Amino acid sequence: MSSEQGRVAVITGAANGIGRGLAEYAAGLGMRLLLSDVDEAQLQALCAELQGRGVEAIACVADVGDPVQVEHLRDVAVQQFGGVDLLFNNAGVMQTGHCWEISHAQWQRMLRVNLDGVINGIRSFVPLLLAQGRPAHVINTASLAGLLSSPLMAPYNVTKQAVVALSETLHYELSQLQAQVSVSVLCPGPVASAIMASNQVAGAGAQFSELLDASIRQGMSPLELAELVFAAIAEKRFWIFPHKFFKPALQRRLQSILEERNPVFQFVEADEPGASHAAG
Ligand SMILES: NC(=O)c1ccc[n+]([C@@H]2O[C@H](COP(=O)([O-])OP(=O)(O)OC[C@H]3O[C@@H](n4cnc5c(N)ncnc54)[C@H](O)[C@@H]3O)[C@@H](O)[C@H]2O)c1
Repeated sequence: MSSEQGRVAVITGAANGIGRGLAEYAAGLGMRLLLSDVDEAQLQALCAELQGRGVEAIACVADVGDPVQVEHLRDVAVQQFGGVDLLFNNAGVMQTGHCWEISHAQWQRMLRVNLDGVINGIRSFVPLLLAQGRPAHVINTASLAGLLSSPLMAPYNVTKQAVVALSETLHYELSQLQAQVSVSVLCPGPVASAIMASNQVAGAGAQFSELLDASIRQGMSPLELAELVFAAIAEKRFWIFPHKFFKPALQRRLQSILEERNPVFQFVEADEPGASHAAG
């Protein structure tokens, strides 16, 4: 029996890609699942598939950008499962283009889903997790873009770097409280998914978008990623870096900051899946 058997996981953006991989892996561990997404058809299909395998899985359509819908998601978790052990703030979308060409509405969509989504998850669920008085874990999905900025991805860089900052702050606050609630920030490189379907290409972003899509589609499998994520949760590891190729680029960035040198963008070449188009 796995140590996660019978524990409850709430996953946002669960219908596709990384969220779906996390759901399938958690189901394999015997967890009870509250799966959430705005893609109702895919969400219901996944839930039905898991239920057919005997998994206790419930679907709840919720837009993470709406605090009321995220509070409702929390209430469903309490009503149906009596509490929550793992919260995955995972839903996210993409936007490419020069930062000045991206419209106000496109910027707002990115801030709302990628950043407000995580803020709403934390505000709705962390008080519950603290009140439960037992170990619980929050996993926020950022990206390598949370550590390294690439051209033509400004709203993605901005929101993911904010998710890293938010996660670190949450970690410090929970540590100060000596809480049983811990947090991880997941910073993957390319993982096979159709996230680029959410991209509303703006201006110069078109060609770059095709390259990024190809790189992501060849990326790590979501199930392989999920295995690494659950290993990190078991160790209560804050930083989850499923790919390692970016570390020299991060070192160069930190060095340029410390030495007050202007940043220079370089593509990273590596032999990990999809790594050659990732930014450094
Ligand atoms: N695929 C990658 O290479 C990669 C790399 C680093 C980080 N990420 C991050 O991983 C997370 C999952 O992305 P993915 O690659 O699996 O993409 P995906 O498009 O396959 O999955 C994202 C899911 O989020 C859902 N979603 C979108 N807007 C939502 C909203 N407002 N409320 C609730 N759900 C919403 C979508 O319907 C979709 O099911 C995102 O935060 C993404 O930024 C992905």
